[in-house]
Amino acid sequence: MSIKHPLWDRSRRGEPSAPPPPGPPGIRLSGVTVTREEQDVLKDVDLSLDEHRIAVIGLNGSGKSTLVRLLNGLLLPTRGTVQVGGMSTAQDAKLIRRQVGFVFQNPENQIVMPLVAEDLAFGAKNLGLRGADLTVRVDGVLDRLGIAHLAERESHALSGGEKQMVALASVLVMEPTTIVFDEPTTMLDRRNRRRLQATIDDLDQQAIVVTHDLDLIGGYQRVLVVHEGRIAFDGAPAEAVEIYCEISDR
Ligand SMILES: Nc1ncnc2c1ncn2[C@@H]1O[C@H](COP(=O)(O)OP(=O)(O)OP(=O)(O)O)[C@@H](O)[C@H]1O
Ligand SMILES: [Mg+2]
Repeated sequence: MSIKHPLWDRSRRGEPSAPPPPGPPGIRLSGVTVTREEQDVLKDVDLSLDEHRIAVIGLNGSGKSTLVRLLNGLLLPTRGTVQVGGMSTAQDAKLIRRQVGFVFQNPENQIVMPLVAEDLAFGAKNLGLRGADLTVRVDGVLDRLGIAHLAERESHALSGGEKQMVALASVLVMEPTTIVFDEPTTMLDRRNRRRLQATIDDLDQQAIVVTHDLDLIGGYQRVLVVHEGRIAFDGAPAEAVEIYCEISDR
């Protein structure tokens, strides 16, 4: 890990030291640039993402969603490579998506079936689960998220926050090794926000979380501050928040 932006090239306090747990697939970005309408929205990013809990913060339009969409091949770099477990997102996006799940900012993007339980079963069936195994997997996730009462509801008729919880459930049933969250708490009330926070904290999986919710990231091992398409800071939460506040106040 290193500070990438000369603006913030100063020594860090409280460098995260916990080793990553076994399991994360090993995500590597090398020389990654993403160009949109002749503008570089992400510039020369080199990162290895191995920690169990990584947060991504930064101003609106700084490049956070662009960065995390690269991680499971939802977006391909204009230049450079993104590798997951040695596979490239340019060649193996389908396999990589089984390892790296993605919870979207807008849950509408995630929900495909008319009923909630069907929606969850759809993904699990694609993994080959059938019968009792399928039911146990789906019910287990619904219970864990405290949304078992939504199982027979029509997906399109749910509230925004309920949809967001179902979107998370639809990723959890796939049991990926890493879950990327792009602003998962925006639509949630206090209770569901805390529930989601606790769910993320308890996940065995690696979690990479884009958020404006700075309360969420205190315990994270690593925080990336994205600014104008670059990694402006890479390190511990307290200093990351300090730098983010400096950027915000300019
Ligand atoms: N397909 C596209 N075409 C043109 N510009 C794009 C495209 N996708 C992203 N951008 C631009 O890239 C920049 C970064 O966008 P991105 O969505 O990554 O920001 P963000 O940090 O996630 O912001 P927010 O906090 O508002 O979600 C923005 O200026 C955005 O307008
Ligand atoms: Mg975004």
